[in-house]
Amino acid sequence: MSAPVSGKVYRGFTAATMVAGNGPYGLVSDAALAVQDGLIAWAGPAPDLPQAYLDWPRQDLGGALVTPALIDCHTHLVFGGDRSNEFAMRLGGASYEEIARSGGGIMSTVAATRAASDDELLQSALRRVDDLMADGVAVIEVKSGYGLTIEHEMRMLRIARKIERHRPVRICTSWLAAHALPPEYTGAADRYIDEVAIAGMEQAHAAGLVDAVDGFCEGIGFNRAQIARLFVKATALGIPVKLHAEQLSDLKGAVLAAEFGALSADHLEYLAEEDVPRLAEAGLVAVMLPGAYYALRETQLPPIEAMRVNGVAMAVATDCNPGSSPLSSLRLAMNMACTLFRLTPEEALAGTTRNAAAALGRSDDCGTIEPGKRADLAVWNVPHPDFLSYWIGGNLLRARIGDGEYHER
Ligand code: NIG
Ligand code: FE
Repeated sequence: MSAPVSGKVYRGFTAATMVAGNGPYGLVSDAALAVQDGLIAWAGPAPDLPQAYLDWPRQDLGGALVTPALIDCHTHLVFGGDRSNEFAMRLGGASYEEIARSGGGIMSTVAATRAASDDELLQSALRRVDDLMADGVAVIEVKSGYGLTIEHEMRMLRIARKIERHRPVRICTSWLAAHALPPEYTGAADRYIDEVAIAGMEQAHAAGLVDAVDGFCEGIGFNRAQIARLFVKATALGIPVKLHAEQLSDLKGAVLAAEFGALSADHLEYLAEEDVPRLAEAGLVAVMLPGAYYALRETQLPPIEAMRVNGVAMAVATDCNPGSSPLSSLRLAMNMACTLFRLTPEEALAGTTRNAAAALGRSDDCGTIEPGKRADLAVWNVPHPDFLSYWIGGNLLRARIGDGEYHER
């Protein structure tokens, strides 16, 4: 008698495997998938399913489209309060920078976040996680950056990690104390970098709370020298870095990120075309955040064609935050990436699967449908993967497969 089987076989579906170099979307029609212990054991055309899996329990997916579970690789979804008042102010003509410089913007969310209880922060974050999950998202990056003291920044990351206990998603946490200068440190940005951004990073890292270190390199954020000091320390601790760069102006932040071998540079509307080859050489991922472009009514487009020509991997994320990108639909971000930034629908899906995994340093365990990766998948009621970027709104998700288990949505 053979040993009982812990695995399972899925059949009767089309797979957009998103494996690079395997044709559009890495598409396999009439696909089969064997999962075991939460991992993909085998994936390919059903007629090729090896003998060994033929007597495993099987489930037919009725012709659905299956993609890797989506990955939102850039969010600020733990925060207190909201900034709907600033929406009205911007519509009235105030710029994002003007609002920030007059004490609103990030600082108003800092005040609301510091004032909120742990439970308030967790519950409001879970609502946004639920929105993302409805779009098939199973991996979410969450940044600190609305605490701006060591204690409050660490609290944000602890709450972010707690999300995993309440929802079937994986959370990656980024230390973003270098997001804005709190009033306590007015005129003392260098001291803030030392006393909070760096000292806090060391503590948060020791507490196991930091998957990556991020910063905001901008006139209303921090300069290159300050970010570089933070990155030197992060690198010494073995923590990967990433950067908000060239969102509002060209401070050469992305080039700095490339010099540090960063996982990603994010935003990039003001990235100079001549700097694009540096990003390609460094192999970092360019994270496109069209929700912020849209919400701020930006008109400067990131140099998409130059990135495409130079082979820079592009990811797409929501940037979910209460100010510049009040957006909790990753599919809408994909639609905007196509409509506003002229990504192809295939580039948009690569941007929320394979390239988003790379932006998180998690290419080994998610982002494509391949043996050895986690069996975290999205099962869609759509006829073709183009549909995921094309259709605006609606409930396109039929089910999710998490750790190999099937769950109706
Ligand atoms: O990614 N650019 C800096 N940080 C966020 C905005 C945060 C906010 O406005 O609260 C961003 O756009
Ligand atoms: Fe951001």
